[in-house]
Amino acid sequence: MSKLQIHMLEQTRSCELLKLASTSAFTYLEDAEQKNVFPSDESLDLLTGFDGDLPENVGDGVQIIKQLAELGGQNTVRYSGGRYYGFVNGGALPIGLAAKWLADIWDQNAALHVMSPVAAKLESICQQWLKQLFALPDETVAGLVGGTSVASLCGLAAARYRLLSNLNWDISEQGLFGAPTLRIILGKQTHGTVIKMLNLLGFGQQQIEWVDCDEQGRMRIEKIPELDNTCIMVLQAGNVCSGAFDDFARIIPIAKKAEAWVHIDGAFGLWAAASTQFSTLTKGINLANSWSVDGHKTLNTPYDCGVILCSDPAALTHALHQQGSYIQTSEARDSMIYTPDMSRRARGIELWSCLAFLGKSGIAELVSLLHQHAKYFAQQAQKSGFEVLNDVVFNQVILACGTNEITKNVLKHIQNSGITWCGGAKWMGRDIIRVSVCSWATTELEMDKSLAVFVESLHQNTSNSEHN
Ligand SMILES: Cc1ncc(COP(=O)(O)O)c(C=O)c1O
Repeated sequence: MSKLQIHMLEQTRSCELLKLASTSAFTYLEDAEQKNVFPSDESLDLLTGFDGDLPENVGDGVQIIKQLAELGGQNTVRYSGGRYYGFVNGGALPIGLAAKWLADIWDQNAALHVMSPVAAKLESICQQWLKQLFALPDETVAGLVGGTSVASLCGLAAARYRLLSNLNWDISEQGLFGAPTLRIILGKQTHGTVIKMLNLLGFGQQQIEWVDCDEQGRMRIEKIPELDNTCIMVLQAGNVCSGAFDDFARIIPIAKKAEAWVHIDGAFGLWAAASTQFSTLTKGINLANSWSVDGHKTLNTPYDCGVILCSDPAALTHALHQQGSYIQTSEARDSMIYTPDMSRRARGIELWSCLAFLGKSGIAELVSLLHQHAKYFAQQAQKSGFEVLNDVVFNQVILACGTNEITKNVLKHIQNSGITWCGGAKWMGRDIIRVSVCSWATTELEMDKSLAVFVESLHQNTSNSEHN
């Protein structure tokens, strides 16, 4: 045995590094609510402490974990504290974190059943539960990927395979060059990841037919072009800014009649289907062919948890097919046939634990909680002088101030506060402040602390502009 092996074996047996990491993690969690959401500039400067050349020799594990805990731990962005409203970032549920810790110790590769029977089992249960929660067709299969971006890649690859196959073109055999032309039908508010994934699949601007959207970001039905069996249409369950949902019940039957493929980007909004209170928003989604959704948004699983759901298993598995004489498949679930990657961590473990913990009523309660909080945020902000530009149908709020200049300055002030954080965007030509209420830990108290910063920022910037 080499000296290095002996050293690492000792680390394993003594659990020294794991104990140190867990102590540091518990310290990190102490008074979490009091801590800044975003690190200060002075704190960020400390990150230069990581700079340096790759060490020549084996180092001291204890020192490395200490350095990580000290420099890294004070420069994280705290999504889970309840005052973070950036992007659409949820905070991890305690049950998900605990399960992920355990899964990390298990160190499972979820590619094949034979590599990890437990991962395969839990993924197949997740597939079953998600199908039920979203009321999707029985034949639907699920692949667990890093996030909705990759999930959309899978759905669109399945669409490409199926439509070309229907036109007697086998893309696996014949490739894309010279293939029949497919048409891509997108709303003008389609999320950028869909376009990125279409590009990866060989589709460019010339194949995209853009459909106008209404003031909430929903596709205008009367603007949809004549569809046919060469069309891939992408709809949205939850616009990234407004949270709006396309009118699935009216649009999808038109697409299906034309034998088009419909994919739904439901990164955070698909969870509306899991709540009777909100399922009117997702009425008709079961008619689509594929759906992408994240665990790490509305469900608040730890990061790196996306799902592709597809009601045409043959299309999905053909599109993601991989060969190799050493691949040992089994009668049970071999997860890699539903994902682009082969080796990957067993993210189904924490997804299963979050679903098992919350159950149907807990998931519905979480969805409703995020919505109630978004409504509260919007109402309070409006009372304090902000404009609310969207109908708050889910968890997203769009705020604006008198002018683009003031909005941008207010946002900068909020972002620099350290107390709360949210991002900006352009919406219908205006600069906006995006508030995404996505963490289970958000409460009225935390929102009030955040709103105080919003209001102070607005007052400062409006009185500044009056004096100028
Ligand atoms: C509507 C929508 N689609 C896709 C994505 C990308 O998801 P991910 O970052 O999990 O890949 C997001 C992220 O916020 C989103 O809101």
